Parts: sequence; C-alpha cells; structure tokens
Amino acid sequence: MNLKDQTVVIVGGGSGIGFGVARACLERGAHVVLAGRSANKLERALDALQARDRGQAIAADISQETDVARLFAQTARVAHVVVTAADLAYQPIREFEVSAARRALESKLLGALLVCKHAARRLDPSGSITLTSGVASERPLPRGSMVAAVNGALHSFVRGAALELAPIRVNALSPGWVDSELWDTLGIDKTAAFSAMAQRLPAGRIGRPEDLGHAAVFLMENEFTTGAVLTVDGGHRFA
Ligand SMILES: NC(=O)c1ccc[n+]([C@@H]2O[C@H](COP(=O)([O-])OP(=O)(O)OC[C@H]3O[C@@H](n4cnc5c(N)ncnc54)[C@H](OP(=O)(O)O)[C@@H]3O)[C@@H](O)[C@H]2O)c1
Repeated sequence: MNLKDQTVVIVGGGSGIGFGVARACLERGAHVVLAGRSANKLERALDALQARDRGQAIAADISQETDVARLFAQTARVAHVVVTAADLAYQPIREFEVSAARRALESKLLGALLVCKHAARRLDPSGSITLTSGVASERPLPRGSMVAAVNGALHSFVRGAALELAPIRVNALSPGWVDSELWDTLGIDKTAAFSAMAQRLPAGRIGRPEDLGHAAVFLMENEFTTGAVLTVDGGHRFA
C-alpha cells in the first residue's frame, strides 16, 4: 500500500506532530484533511504546507460527538485517520481539578473512541487508524499522572479496537519528547529542558515532528501491523 492519491484525515494536524504527519503524507502524494478546534490555525497550517490544492481544513473538537460525526460526514473516501489531538492537564494529584482531568480524558481517550466509532463507518477496509500516546505512559513528568493514565489506556485501547474493527488496522504511535507547540504551554524553560534531555537520550537529540510523520506513514502503509504501539522516543523509556 502507498499513500499516493489517498485521503488522510489528521485530527490535530494544525500543529506539532500532526503537522509533521501532514507534511509526510503530502510528500507521498496524499490528500490531507486537517482537523482541530481553531479554524485559523488549520488555515495557517494549510498555507505553511502549501497544500491548498491537496488539503482541506475542518474545525472540529474531538471531545464532541456531533463534531466528530460531522467531520467524517464531510469527508468522502477516507483511507487513513491519524489522531494527535489532546488537551492535557499537568497538576499535582492532591490539588487536581476534576474538570481539567476530564478534559484530558475526553480529548485524548474518549476522543479516540469517537474517532474510531465514526471513522470506521467511512474507512476503506484496507485503511487504518493511528492514535498518539506518549512516553509519559512509562516515564511520567512531575504532575503528569493523568497524562500517563490516558497514554497507558490508549495502549490497551488499540488492542481491543484492532480486534473489533478488523480488517481496519488500529495502532498507537508513542512519541518521546518532540519539539512542538505543546511545550510552549507547559510553563517550563524549554531550551534548558531539551538540552538536558538530549544529553540523556541515546539518540542525542530531541524528536522532531518529521520523525513522527515518518513513523505514522509506516503504520499507515504496513498492512501487517495492527494493535501495535510504535515507540519513537530516541531511547527515552530506558535512558
Ligand atoms: N510533543 C511532545 O513532546 C509529545 C511527547 C509525547 C506525546 N505527545 C503527544 O503527541 C500528541 C500531539 O502533541 P503535539 O506535541 O503535536 O502537540 P500540539 O502541537 O499542541 O498539537 C496538538 C493539536 O491538537 C489540537 N487539539 C487539541 N485539543 C483538541 C480537541 N479537543 N479537538 C481537536 N483538536 C484538538 C490542537 O489544535 P486546537 O487547539 O486548535 O484544537 C493542536 O493542533 C499529543 O497527544 C501529545 O500528548 C507529544
């Protein structure tokens, strides 16, 4: 299987890893549908990708079933779906705001369920769904208990979904630290944190969105891979 002339829906494609996935798909001749909450961000991403002729932007909140249903009703002949969307919460357990914890669950875990539910009705039987978890499932950051929890839950979820939605394949991509817009929201000194982590990692550097784009293409194209968690973390989980 290759991606030429296939349509790939990327929920979270307006920035970071999703943007890297979109670029990798376009390089292989695919059409992309970028989804996320901010229509402006998606339009800017399409321009940055120079993908007006092979791309579409649809504003949708993955935690809202009506939005997810509309997203897939608006897109014909979808070959693959990649989800990188997440609205995460980093807080100490003793003070965790339940509303923030719910947002993390609803965007990253229930959002994955909603995408599987509505995409499965539209996908080619030879198609795939790729969800994004993360190294926090094994190496949580301080205040990252809920992030660890949703990532770990996604690893279990893809095995159940792969059995149930077969022959559609369902996998998870588990990134390590990747230089993306996500880090600008965490309130930490990104330059210092990245430099220290790069020294620790066997790969000797922080991940880039294109590293994950490359891995997502593998999961879409490899017809014998389903229910898998593909770790792309520069060795973080054992460093
Ligand atoms: N970057 C890392 O170091 C790293 C490490 C491990 C795992 N990950 C995981 O990789 C995934 C992507 O992260 P990233 O670094 O690419 O972050 P990012 O640049 O912040 O991208 C996340 C995208 O998801 C969209 N989004 C957020 N909530 C959404 C919702 N409710 N509905 C629809 N779209 C939504 C955002 O756009 P809007 O705000 O416009 O909706 C944004 O474009 C996340 O699941 C993250 O946990 C990242």
